[in-house]
Amino acid sequence: MTQQGDALKDRVFEQFSRHVSSGKAEFFRSVGIDFVFGKRQGPYVWDVSGDKKLINCHCNGGVFNLGHANPKMVGVLRDSLESLDIGNHHLVSEQRAILASRLARLAPGNLTHTVFGVGGGEAVDLAIKLARGYTGRPKVVSASGGYHGHTGLALAAGDPQYRDPFGISLPGFVQVPFNDAAALEAAVDGHTAALIFETVPATLGMPIPEKGFFGRAREICTRAGALLIIDEIQTGLGRTGLLWGIEHYGVSPDIMVLGKGLSGGIYPMSATCITPELEGFFHDRPFIHVSTFGGAEVGCPVALAVLEESSRPEFLAHVRSLAEVFARGFEGLRERHPEILVGLRQLGLMMGIEMVSEHCGPLMSRACYDNGLLSVYANNDTRVSQLLPPLIITEDLAREILERVDKSLEDTKKFLGLGS
Ligand SMILES: Cc1ncc(COP(=O)(O)O)c(C=O)c1O
Repeated sequence: MTQQGDALKDRVFEQFSRHVSSGKAEFFRSVGIDFVFGKRQGPYVWDVSGDKKLINCHCNGGVFNLGHANPKMVGVLRDSLESLDIGNHHLVSEQRAILASRLARLAPGNLTHTVFGVGGGEAVDLAIKLARGYTGRPKVVSASGGYHGHTGLALAAGDPQYRDPFGISLPGFVQVPFNDAAALEAAVDGHTAALIFETVPATLGMPIPEKGFFGRAREICTRAGALLIIDEIQTGLGRTGLLWGIEHYGVSPDIMVLGKGLSGGIYPMSATCITPELEGFFHDRPFIHVSTFGGAEVGCPVALAVLEESSRPEFLAHVRSLAEVFARGFEGLRERHPEILVGLRQLGLMMGIEMVSEHCGPLMSRACYDNGLLSVYANNDTRVSQLLPPLIITEDLAREILERVDKSLEDTKKFLGLGS
């Protein structure tokens, strides 16, 4: 690194530590990942010093599905800025109407209406709030170790480690092991408003649902008069090789929540897609839920362009062929690293590298960084490293990622004293 680059980075770290987060600055320095986003393009990000280049296999959980600074999305936002701004959240909006009708055509089942938000947590909050309002019931069942956001009701549906330090433990929230239909059956009763699940729980280490799990969840909901909320914030928009992750399971949710990738990586946007019956709840109370920046008009054309791109059959076929490259590659990696690699948890490009012990994930994140990959471990199962490359990479780049994963597994073995 040049002296100038060094000085710039030190300055950013010092300022960040003083005014944003001292803990994060200290943590990243201590684990040797002192990376500060500088230039970014397509699947790549460069350190602010310009010296280090990473392939982004974190993608903020899907924000960068279409890569960084996707030229089409940037062009749409530029054009949009010529004539639009935030708009008014109380009034009728042409841009929100166009975007919602596109979502209605593409969404699974009969999700005809959409309420827009800014971030995923806000959209999940609305899903839970509406389920409670509509059913008049208090109880919400979710997966232990799942993650739905940092806001009130979303936080309450997530793992205790993110809410206990704040003393936030709302009544009515119950958690069951993911993939366990019997536990679900036992937890759901006449007081249950909704079940909420990620299609593949990312923070829990990407456990892939058993084929029949969501079908059973749907039946249990229908029988009990509860709603099924599917959080597609990470699995939506083509990540799994189909437009929606839940399509793999042939199930229609009552509410689907989107965020992250809907932004095109450049303008925040989230969505809570609902059935006509649920929209009926708002019919007589149209101003009961308002979000000043939710569905900002200037961002709607970007989200629309994201939907157009992500729903193209050729785009989805490309994701599926990349997924095969990774599946094949990991078969070879398992033979090369039996001491450490258990296997790949995979639904399309929603991937988790499962390793043998809870020490592996953190060490693997560091090894990946050293080998030019940005990849983080799953916080609620640290045996697993999340692998979420942009969906627009070439097969050659997929193979390069596999080579870098290979080296990273080798380095992780050395960190653990298992190395050759
Ligand atoms: C599955 C899932 N749901 C909800 C959220 C919350 O989204 P946001 O951070 O935009 O509020 C996240 C964020 O990581 C997520 O991964």
